[in-house]
Amino acid sequence: MTERKSLGEELAAADDEPVARATSPSLATLWQRRIGRRDVLAGFGKAALLASVSPAILSLAACGDSYAPDDIFGFEEVPRGVDETHHIAADHNADVLIRWGDPVLPNAPPFDIANQSAAAQLRQFGYNNDYIGFVPLPLGSNSSDRGLLCIHHEYTNDNLMHAGMTAEDPRENFTREIVEISMAAHGGTIVEVARGKDGKWLVVRDSEYNRRITPLTTDMTISGPAAGHPRLQTGEDPTGHNVIGTINNCAGGITPWGTWLMSEENFNFYFIGEPADEMEAANHARMGFPAGRAYPWGLYHKRFDLSVEPKEPNRYGWVVEVDPLDPFSTPVKRTALGRFKHEGCENAATKDGRLVIYMGDDQQFEYLYKFITAGKVDSDDRAASASLLDEGTLYVARFEEDGSGKWMPLVHGKNGLDAANGFASQADVLIETRRAADLVGATPLDRPEDVEPNPATGKIYVALTNSKERRQDQVDGVNPRAANLWGQIVEMEPGDGDHGSENFTWTLIVKCGEPRFPAIGAAWHPDIGENGWFTCPDNMAVDPKGRLWVATDQGSGWDASSGSADGLYALATVGEKRGLARRIFRAPIGAEVCGPCFTPDGTTLFLAVQHPGADGTKNYKGFERDSTFEDPATRWPDFEPGMPPRPSLLVITAKNGGPVGA
Ligand code: FEO
Ligand code: CA
Ligand code: CA
Ligand code: CA
Repeated sequence: MTERKSLGEELAAADDEPVARATSPSLATLWQRRIGRRDVLAGFGKAALLASVSPAILSLAACGDSYAPDDIFGFEEVPRGVDETHHIAADHNADVLIRWGDPVLPNAPPFDIANQSAAAQLRQFGYNNDYIGFVPLPLGSNSSDRGLLCIHHEYTNDNLMHAGMTAEDPRENFTREIVEISMAAHGGTIVEVARGKDGKWLVVRDSEYNRRITPLTTDMTISGPAAGHPRLQTGEDPTGHNVIGTINNCAGGITPWGTWLMSEENFNFYFIGEPADEMEAANHARMGFPAGRAYPWGLYHKRFDLSVEPKEPNRYGWVVEVDPLDPFSTPVKRTALGRFKHEGCENAATKDGRLVIYMGDDQQFEYLYKFITAGKVDSDDRAASASLLDEGTLYVARFEEDGSGKWMPLVHGKNGLDAANGFASQADVLIETRRAADLVGATPLDRPEDVEPNPATGKIYVALTNSKERRQDQVDGVNPRAANLWGQIVEMEPGDGDHGSENFTWTLIVKCGEPRFPAIGAAWHPDIGENGWFTCPDNMAVDPKGRLWVATDQGSGWDASSGSADGLYALATVGEKRGLARRIFRAPIGAEVCGPCFTPDGTTLFLAVQHPGADGTKNYKGFERDSTFEDPATRWPDFEPGMPPRPSLLVITAKNGGPVGA
């Protein structure tokens, strides 16, 4: 009999299964630069523009001209290893900003581990912080002292949240209150943060922007080609236009108009029951239903029971757009961006000013996508962008062995995406994006996670985390290793230097893993040191100098993958040191590192430590067992008796106040 995994382990492993403060150019110049033009559009410079330019664009202010190709990271590396706490490079600070349970809304009660309730959790910081987006305040400024953080709460480790929940099978203990605490701890948080007089970042407790978004209470609408389709209609919502909440939100993005894109990743884990509607059987199977053991939300919320609502899964797996500037706005699921296990929604601009969103589908043998809006970004009119993501073209990537590649449009009526193949309309193509991508000959990848365009170079970086199921006969150029426990990072260059091109070239900048063992087949810059190499790249960020930062997620397999705890690494992508990495941060046992996010001036790095004490503690020497609430492998970051580990956001700064990692 195979060993039974805990729910937390199953979810953590889910991805593994196949199926400037300085003077800056004007805002108008920044956008023009971004799209490769210097002629300034009429209307730029009006006050309205302040509501339309993103931190991503603003970050160009500090890079571009000042980019030094040979600039390598000057900090002292953190040594490899694993222990109960985090480690940051010398001359840097890592301060806890907000933890699971900390108050978010003005009326939130203080965290009380022994007396949790869904009502309290709805007002407090959620669990398992993942993506972090920074929207400077005032909107359109390049403030690095004040802004909104938009944070995903991917999932819950209920056995580490409540007394008496065992790792083996917490479900028997799932009361309605515990289910609803779990639901309330999912979703997202918007919180205003600002630097105090001492330079330290603080949460603005009484900010009118502070908001929790949850699958328990947040009403959302569905828009785009699949909205209202019968396959999205349920007993609770016969219109197919309204849904409550978002789940399993992983790496995301911020648009140029300052909205937040929340990805929906492993949504299949949230449904119980056997589907009564066989019409969706193949669709559900392709998305990983049944998921084996699931969060038992369906016991009390019937929309998560397939035997009651077999079409409810079709209402998840999308990208959700949220306006953080309006705490009363209704989030919108944008179906035009496709339905899959979304990971990463970072953007770039085409030369003619349309927006391109790059997205991974994080599962073994799944695909890389991009979406290009039909309309151009109107920098003069924020409201005009309100439906920009409803119309456009979704593409999936095909990687050729000669280093070229093609973006294949997923458009109804083209490339076999027609009625003969079960696609009656574009809605069907979008609902079953994976099957459409299969048909057009997309390249199955080693778990595409975050995708990061580098505005300084125009190149795109794709984190392929790992793929232990890939066999030798399935190896190809972009997925060059069988039983790949280590992952690789793909560097792509758009055709004609235009993100709108259907062509690209690609190369692998690094093949991860221990460089001293030839059998692993790792590839790094020859100067790579014992503390610089890493495995399982997941979330990434580009800093204002155009340097790439990579966070890792080895999961329970950390021992076999690298033997060191997860961390954050700086990776040189240009110049003589290209392919050289350095570790700036190491996580506590059982945690992965998520959401690296820089302020526009690069002097602050927000970092998420997710599921501390949870993953792979059986291989932690001296502990060698699963963590439980009563007996966790670490009590990071509080280290107080009776307090379990708490997922938390850290603020990383250099002690001299300069750029992080300089
Ligand atoms: Fe949620 Fe793909 O990590
Ligand atoms: Ca991830
Ligand atoms: Ca990212
Ligand atoms: Ca992850």
